[in-house]
Order: sequence, then C-alpha cells, then structure tokens
Amino acid sequence: MSARIPTLVLGGTGYVAGEVIRLVLGHPELELAGVLSDSQPGEPVCKAFPHLAAVLGDTRFQSQADIERLVATLPRSAVFSAAPHGVSAALIDALLRAAEAAGTRPSVVDISADYRYSTPEAYAAVYKHAHGAPARLADFSCAVPEHLGRAPTPHVAHPGCFATATLLAAVPLLAMGLVKPTLFVSGVTGSTGSGRKPVDGTHHPTRHSDLYSYNALVHRHIPEITACAAAASGITADFAFVPHSGPFARGIHVTVQAQLEAPLDTAGVLAKLREYYEGAPFVRVLDQAPRLKDIVASNYAHLSAAANGRTVAVMSVVDNLNKGAAGGAMQWMNRLLGLPETAGLTAPAPGWT
Ligand SMILES: NC(=O)c1ccc[n+]([C@@H]2O[C@H](COP(=O)([O-])OP(=O)(O)OC[C@H]3O[C@@H](n4cnc5c(N)ncnc54)[C@H](OP(=O)(O)O)[C@@H]3O)[C@@H](O)[C@H]2O)c1
Repeated sequence: MSARIPTLVLGGTGYVAGEVIRLVLGHPELELAGVLSDSQPGEPVCKAFPHLAAVLGDTRFQSQADIERLVATLPRSAVFSAAPHGVSAALIDALLRAAEAAGTRPSVVDISADYRYSTPEAYAAVYKHAHGAPARLADFSCAVPEHLGRAPTPHVAHPGCFATATLLAAVPLLAMGLVKPTLFVSGVTGSTGSGRKPVDGTHHPTRHSDLYSYNALVHRHIPEITACAAAASGITADFAFVPHSGPFARGIHVTVQAQLEAPLDTAGVLAKLREYYEGAPFVRVLDQAPRLKDIVASNYAHLSAAANGRTVAVMSVVDNLNKGAAGGAMQWMNRLLGLPETAGLTAPAPGWT
C-alpha cells in the first residue's frame, strides 16, 4: 500500500477550511499534515471545529512560517486554500516559492476568488485591490470539474458556490445550443455562505426566518460565472443574477431561466441534461424538483428542469461548503494527484439536517 499524501489546509478556522479538514480526515489517500491559522497558531484545531474532535486528536493550528517549512520538506503534497480573497494569492505564492526553493511539488486548489481570473486587471476591476501574485495566475485554471476534463495547469481555482450551482444548470443549455445567450438566474444561499465572522446583514438574527435579495444584477461573482460559462460552452452569455439570503445554514438553490432557440418540452430538456452529464458521478438529473435536504453536506448536485412554450427553467441545488467549495476542490485535487475523482467524496447527504 502506498503512503498517504500529506495535505495542508490554509484558512484555518473558517467554515470552508473545516469542511476541507472533514473531507481529508475521511479520505482514503490523503492525510492531514498541517492547518494554517493566522489568528490561532498553537491552538487545538478541534477548538474551532468541535464536531471533528473525535478524529482530530491534539492536532494544533500552525503558523505561516511552520507551513512554509513543512511544504519544503514534503516531496509531494496537497494544498487547499480556504483563505479569504485578497489574502489567498500571496499565501499560496509564498508557499510555492518555499517549495520551489526546496525542489518539492505541491498541488494547489484555491477555493478563494484570487486565482479565478486570467489577468490581474480583470481581478482588480472586480475586487478593487491589486492582485497578490499576478505572475502566478497563469498556473491556475478555473472550472467546475464537470466542465473541464483535465486542467491544463499545475494548479486549479475552484469557481465557488453560487457559480457551481449556476454553471451546472447553465452550461449544458449554452453548450448544446438550446437557448438564447441571455440567462436569468435567481439563487438562494444559506448563512454559512457568508463565513464564520458575524457581521451586520449576515448575522443569524437578521437572516433566520427571512428571505431577501442582495446585490441584484451587480454581484461580484457575475464576471466569474460569465467567464467560466464561456470557457466551458464556447458562448459568451449575459447572466442577470439576483442572489438571495435564505433562512438556513447550508445549501444553495439556483433557478436559471432562458428562452429556448427551438421548442422543446420538459422531457426533452431533461433528456438533454442527462446526455450532457452522462458519466458525471456527482450530478443527478431528477424528474422532480430538487431539494436542498437531499444534497446538503454532500458533494452531489441535483438538477431538474421544466419547459413551457419558449421558456426553460433549470433548477440546481448544491451544498455551498461541500460541492460548492471543499468537495468540488477535492474533486480537482483527486484529479491533480492522479487519484480516482470520487475518492473520499461519495458519502450521501444525511437527509434530515
Ligand atoms: N462559505 C462558502 O460557502 C464558500 C463557498 C465557496 C468559496 N468560499 C471561499 O472560501 C474562502 C473561505 O470562506 P469561509 O466561508 O470559510 O470564510 P471564513 O469562515 O470567514 O474563514 C476564512 C478564514 O480565513 C482566515 N483568515 C482571515 N484573515 C486572514 C489573513 N489575513 N491571513 C490568513 N488567514 C486569514 C481565518 O482563519 P484563521 O485566522 O484561523 O487563519 C478565517 O477564519 C473564501 O475565500 C470564500 O470566498 C466560501
């Protein structure tokens, strides 16, 4: 039996980092070698993630200097960054420089937005600050794993949660020439989508038992969705995206509507979606409306569709922390490491979350 691949996680105490750690602890080929915390180096990791205490033991958060030293000693390693955008690029760059100096070969999947762009100018236009490591952008590809067979770069940027749910629904419509290239997208996300730190507007008392839109038609993920959709389908489409805050902790529900190029009924659209995702282990196309509870805390995505006259609607649900972040990133990492794409990811949703 070959040794497990040492795995490093950046973004220590965050929600996505916690989900990456949970997946690594259950992975047959990876082992947790280090978790970087900017705010709590030396503290037990289970203090931030009590639900993982039984399997974490006394694993402690490490500093950036510790992690850089560690990556330089590991001939091969897996690195997941769940650090915030604006921080992740420079953290990864420093780690890769330490590895290059030592001749070691980490594979990186960044879950932040920092490496989703092909130019520093495009990044700065959206995020309003200079990119932290522009020379590294060419080393990253950004795609939903179902839409790009093999990354042409050594590292990958995960496209994010709203983008995953939207792209899974929209790309087949565009790639198969089924719709006109203007798509109307309504998405509802749970509160973990806003991260661990409670701030006004994302805090539980504000969000629970309520539903409201935010950043309608101007959300910063629109350029990322547009670019990924164009790369995956060959069509540059307009995405009119209205995100909403939903009164639940985990999960994203997206509805994509568009005008059909030619008449097609519901059964016809479902057949096209099934054809497009044939062989994709984590995408299931259902006859009935997809529900969050059937996928939450899993790496599965459920899609369904309806068509009436010239209008088509595709509904898509994913778990924002898993398929939309840690799980999708693990799919990519499995591929980068030459492991089966499904390794460590096939646990079904618990159902009654
Ligand atoms: N939440 C989602 O549903 C979701 C989905 C897809 C993608 N993402 C992306 O994934 C990343 C993490 O999201 P999250 O929801 O887990 O956020 P989060 O809960 O706010 O966690 C981010 C973590 O990053 C670390 N951090 C903060 N400032 C830092 C700094 N200056 N230097 C180094 N580390 C710093 C902090 O942990 P330490 O202080 O312990 O280091 C913090 O807990 C973000 O880039 C986000 O956009 C999130």
